[in-house]
Amino acid sequence: MSRSSKRFIIAPSIFSADLTRLGQQVKAAESAGGDWIHIDIMDGHFVPNMSMGRLAVEACRRVTQLPLDIHLMVKEPERFVEFFARSGADHLSVHIEATPNIHSLLQQIAQLSCKAGIVINPGTPAIALEPILQMVHLVLVMTVNPGYGAQEFLPEMLPKIRQIRQMLDRVNPEAMIQVDGGISASTIPLVVEAGAQIFVAGNAIFNHPDGILGGVQAIRACLPD
Ligand code: DX5
Ligand code: ZN
Repeated sequence: MSRSSKRFIIAPSIFSADLTRLGQQVKAAESAGGDWIHIDIMDGHFVPNMSMGRLAVEACRRVTQLPLDIHLMVKEPERFVEFFARSGADHLSVHIEATPNIHSLLQQIAQLSCKAGIVINPGTPAIALEPILQMVHLVLVMTVNPGYGAQEFLPEMLPKIRQIRQMLDRVNPEAMIQVDGGISASTIPLVVEAGAQIFVAGNAIFNHPDGILGGVQAIRACLPD
């Protein structure tokens, strides 16, 4: 399992994009220096909101070569991973809380030739990840309760990021930590210090006063060289 060649990765979340201009906004995020495109799939059951589905993934696949980073916030994710892999997903991240069969689900994702991510909600302790840490390319630590954009960052998640980094260093040092929720120029230094390397940002990029370019640049400017 190889770590990405970049030390830090910015993943603009199209949850906050203007969907009337999705193609343009994805291209703008790419040319601004975004590294991955993060796509939130919500089913209205696992989280109290609905978002986009397979058609959005296919549409993004047509307009960018960047890795498509799919965050599945759905019940019974085992029913959907093949479907999203065929739609152009590069990374498939699934919640530890979403299925009792997480081990076989991660095997299934690997068989589909996608990079597997495991996601952990704010209310779930880090220790729940221990049995499957060796199977993942990334751990996504939610820094808000999932379901909505533009929420406030939860600083209580910082010790959890540190704990997971230590756990990974013992069994899977190549794996990266991703953070999602309330990520902006003001919270990046905190999560970098705690050990995060992949930054999902929706509101801070797509609603930045200086546009998408300004949003990505503001985040990049906070990252160490
Ligand atoms: C929230 C989603 C996020 C969301 C982040 O459930 O998983 O990816 O887009 O939004 P911001 O960056 O606005 O907090
Ligand atoms: Zn997300």
